[in-house]
Amino acid sequence: MIRLAPSILSADFANIGEAVKLAEEAGADMIHIDIMDGHFVPNLTLGPQAVSALKKITTLPLDVHLMVSDPGFFIPIFQDAGADWISIHVEASAHLHREIMLIKELKAKAGVALNPATPIHLLNDIFKELDYILVMSVNPGFGGQKFVEASRHKIRQLSQWIKGQKLDIVVEVDGGVGPANAESLIEEGAEILVVGAAIFKDKNPRQAIAGLKDIIDRHNRK
Ligand code: DX5
Ligand code: ZN
Repeated sequence: MIRLAPSILSADFANIGEAVKLAEEAGADMIHIDIMDGHFVPNLTLGPQAVSALKKITTLPLDVHLMVSDPGFFIPIFQDAGADWISIHVEASAHLHREIMLIKELKAKAGVALNPATPIHLLNDIFKELDYILVMSVNPGFGGQKFVEASRHKIRQLSQWIKGQKLDIVVEVDGGVGPANAESLIEEGAEILVVGAAIFKDKNPRQAIAGLKDIIDRHNRK
């Protein structure tokens, strides 16, 4: 099943709750929330208080993407705030196995995020514990960047490998995704499309979601 996860990073921060409600009404499957610490990435976004406030206004799963230098410290905090899915960066984690197991103990979906230049073989010894893999298709830190084409082969390789091994791991793609490349990324094997600017910078975000849902629904019916 292919899912759409609007990223609220590109929403109007004075009205984030409204953006989440709009996304839910328009048919989003989950809400992608980017947590940046100003250290692992050169930007600051939201904290656990924002996540717990959003949790109260939506029934959609919250997909929390931790772009932080100390994921072990933040995992319980964000799970407590209401994160249903938690991804941490392999580049930020010195103890990836411990931190993935911690996410699972807390009963959230456990994911690893890979920057564009990070090879997938770094996951060889952790694959079997993962619920999902987040393939970054831009360098993390900002919304509205251009899709890094080299990410395509990573999505394809990962998805073929997962199928070959008969593993139950979802591939998520994040960065520069929109109506122009959504279809081809689904064909490569992406199952969760994170979309920020192409929804919230559009003059009609509701229509932008509907357009992406059309593409997704066509594939889900296949
Ligand atoms: C980037 C974030 C993304 C971002 C995607 O660091 O991880 O989730 O919001 O935004 P767009 O779709 O605008 O590239
Ligand atoms: Zn993200």
